[in-house]
Amino acid sequence: MNQDQLKQAVAQAAIDHILPQLTAKSIVGVGTGSTANFFIDALARYKMDFDGAVASSEATAARLQQHGIPVYDLNSVAELEFYVDGADEANANLELIKGGGAALTREKIVAAVAQTFICIADESKLVPQLGEFPLPVEVIPMARSHVARKLVALEGDPVYREGVLTDNGNVILDVYNLDIRNARELEEKINNIVGVVSNGLFAARPANLLLLGTAAGVKTLK
Ligand code: A5P
Repeated sequence: MNQDQLKQAVAQAAIDHILPQLTAKSIVGVGTGSTANFFIDALARYKMDFDGAVASSEATAARLQQHGIPVYDLNSVAELEFYVDGADEANANLELIKGGGAALTREKIVAAVAQTFICIADESKLVPQLGEFPLPVEVIPMARSHVARKLVALEGDPVYREGVLTDNGNVILDVYNLDIRNARELEEKINNIVGVVSNGLFAARPANLLLLGTAAGVKTLK
């Protein structure tokens, strides 16, 4: 199986997981990235079985709409049972690094609202310790240098993701070489830097379920 087939398999596994619990009133939270795109394409086949979706990015909203799936503003949604999204890295505690696609802040917001966060990924994303993938940090543009200096003080090596603006009009610093043995503590420390909008550590709100695509089939981690 190639990587795309693994992603397709986990997207279908997420559908199989949520489908029995969807009603005509259900709204599904949808993530961003190539794995989430496979999920959107699979979800579209069942669009008569639920009401619509909340999107974690403009790109995801556009793809949902292309499939004829209604997209709701999160503020108008009373309850969100499921959020399904990919990750750049995951550990065995279901803590994640996200934001490779620059959508981390909206992803974090939708994940915070959802009762169940299902992470879908191919097996290459499971790591013993987070941090091989540089940690994306969304920053208010005028605070970029200030935040970079504070990240250096945390012993990281921040690199400005040139030419990228988030859906919220902010910039991204990708932080290399961080020691992420305590993801929750580091998530909080980085959030406390003035000028940071959010960072790509999902440790305070980890996934509830990790569906991992492997050559031997989809593995479930809880
Ligand atoms: C988007 O900002 C990210 O958080 C994605 O969820 C993450 O980069 C995974 O993307 P892929 O599914 O494309 O690997």
